[in-house]
Order: sequence, then structure tokens, then C-alpha cells
Amino acid sequence: MLNQFPLNRFANEQTPFYYYDLELLEATLNNIKEYTNDYPFHVHYAVKANANDRILRTINAAGLGVDCVSGGEVAASINAGFESNKIVFAGVGKTDREINLALDANILCFNVESIPELEAINELAQQKGKIADIAFRVNPNVDAHTHKYITTGLSENKFGINLEQLADVLLYAKQLKNINVVGLHFHIGSQITILEPFKILCEKINELQEKVRSMGFNLKIINVGGGYGVDYDNPDENPIPDFKAYFDVFKNNLKLYDNQEVHFELGRAIVAQCGSLITRVTYVKKGTAKQFIITDAGMTDLIRPALYQAHHKIENITSTEKDTEVYDVVGPICESSDCFGENEVLPITKRGDLLALRTAGAYGEIMASRYNLRALPSIIYSK
Ligand code: LLP
Repeated sequence: MLNQFPLNRFANEQTPFYYYDLELLEATLNNIKEYTNDYPFHVHYAVKANANDRILRTINAAGLGVDCVSGGEVAASINAGFESNKIVFAGVGKTDREINLALDANILCFNVESIPELEAINELAQQKGKIADIAFRVNPNVDAHTHKYITTGLSENKFGINLEQLADVLLYAKQLKNINVVGLHFHIGSQITILEPFKILCEKINELQEKVRSMGFNLKIINVGGGYGVDYDNPDENPIPDFKAYFDVFKNNLKLYDNQEVHFELGRAIVAQCGSLITRVTYVKKGTAKQFIITDAGMTDLIRPALYQAHHKIENITSTEKDTEVYDVVGPICESSDCFGENEVLPITKRGDLLALRTAGAYGEIMASRYNLRALPSIIYSK
């Protein structure tokens, strides 16, 4: 039996719920600070990974900024106490309403992904008599070797501006009176567990910077995006990603000029390991060749396995059985993709046992839905 969960507190709670270990989150944030402190490195937490208010407040208290992709995220960040000069706003489809909200809040920077968007921001800023600081999201064409749904840096996709078009776009932006180009933004994908793609990204940025500087642009911000992955298989061995190795890649390979700042947009690496989805076993059903554990959590609570064929480590946290058996762990939703794991080796499991689906702090709670008219999962914090 594992003891990192407060089982006495769990005993009478309505399941399923997300459990957040805020001490682990704080330790993770301290670790990030340790490796970014003496560099012009600014980490903007990618709110899309988890917009839970306690999580946002903990991240704000640690001094990080936020990377938002909707008006809702900008509003939630302001509500959680983030200062406007620590908020960046990205996304391919910002609506006028969202742009206006961000302009009114005087955010740090818009990450712009297309010419029509640039024009819309210019026009709306003009109406308010403001000048919007923007960074262009550039598609660096780096293969992140990750799942096809979460790779974003290759040239043929909806994100960003293609390298070949950047020079023209920069020159065009220069003519717009209510736009001030302050940076370049890159993001190559998510759940990247090898460092090589980040090194290649640095090299691409170095080349691009030479070109952009020769055109007379002196950009203050180089935003390298997020995407650093976590260890889904061994959450206890690697509760905090190797941030030293990650930041070293940028320290050693990215060439900076004058007073340039490097911005990071880490989401998963910050919050994934601090969250677990706790679910109760509703039934154990024996088939002919297989046996199923049917949990009270389903894909509506944690959609990553169904959507990305992701696997979250599953543990029986209440069983005292020494013998193990093999189970398929499935949810109650009427979809065959509602499966958390096939052929899971677990201690003999009974109706009423609690299971933990680990490493669920990122893209878990925030992606929950009410499909089948289910209640949203509730939340318990370690403190
Ligand atoms: N910056 C940009 C521009 C992004 O598109 C993303 C994630 C991030 C930063 C943060 O990436 P992270 O550090 O968390 O990898 N729902 C999927 C992941 C989608 C990621 C989308 N973009 C999943 O559950 O795996």
C-alpha cells in the first residue's frame, strides 16, 4: 500500500475527484526558479494545462507569469492575481471580444499567428488609442517526435507564420501604427521527452535572428514555447522533470543579443505530476478471457487515454492484497474508447477500492466534460 495519499481524508469523499499535491507543485516551482534565476529567463505557465484557481494562485505566488489562449484564461489569471505585465495571450482564433479584453487589461504581449489577426489587433488597439505589443508565432519546422495531435512545429499546420513569409510579415507590421513588434514566438509540440528537438529549435532561432537583425529588427523577446514532457510511467521516481537539463539546452545553445529575454510557456512539466485522479471501483466484472475493473471515473473526467492513446499509471491505493491479477480498467461511459488501461497488473481488486490515475494534473480536470450528463469531478488539495 502506498502512503503518499491521505487515505483517511479520502475515505468519505465523493469520487471521482482530482487530488492535488500542492507541496509537490511548490517544490517544482522552486526547482524552476533555481535554474532560471540568474538568466534573463521568464516562465509563463501555460494555463491551458490546468486553470484551477488554487493551482494558479500557487504559481502566481512563485512569481511566474501566464500564457493564455482565451479570454476566459486571461480573466481567470487576472482573477488569480497575476499582474497584467505577466500575461501573454496566444491562439490562432482570438475574437474581437477577447482582443478587447486583453487590450483593456494591458497585457504584456499578444502572440500573433496570422496577418488577419494582426490587422484586427491593430484596428481594435487604434479604437482604444493603444499600441499593442506583439510577438509573431513562427513555425520553425522542427519535428518534435511526439503524438500527431500535439505536434505543432511542422510547417503544414494551422499554427503560426511560415518561415518564408516572416520577412514580409515583419515589414508589413512595421507600417501598422498601433502595433509594436517586440518578439518572436515558437512552440514545437507537447510531451517532448528528448532534448534534441529543443536544441534544433535553438539553432533555427539563431539563424532566424541573424536574418531578422539584418533587416533592422531588434526584438526584445524570444519565446521558445513549452512542450517539455513528464515521466508518465514513473511518477514517483521522477516527480519533478529534469529542469536543469532543459534550461541548460537554452543556456548553451540559444544566442541572445543586447537585453533580450527568453520566455518559456511550460504547462505540463509544471502541473502534471502534482495531480492524480482518484476513482472508486464500482464493479469487478469477470468475462471469459478477461476481467474488467469498472471505475466511477471515465473519459469525461480524464480524456487523455481516449483522445491521445495516453497511459496514466494506475495504482490501487487501498488494497492490502499481496497477490496480483490482470485487469482491463474501464470507465462507465458508453464509448469503447472509455478505457484507462488494458492488461493492468494490480493487486486483487474489489468493489469499493480506490484507484489513483497518476500524473493527471495537466490536461485532466480542465478537459473534463459533462458528456452523459455526468457531474464534473470534485477537487481535494493536500493543504
Ligand atoms: N505554448 C503553446 C503555444 C502551446 O500550444 C502549448 C500547448 C503550450 C505552450 C504548453 O505546452 P506543454 O508545456 O503543456 O506541453 N491536451 C494535450 C496537450 C495539448 C497541448 C497544446 N499546446 C495533452 O493532454 O497531451
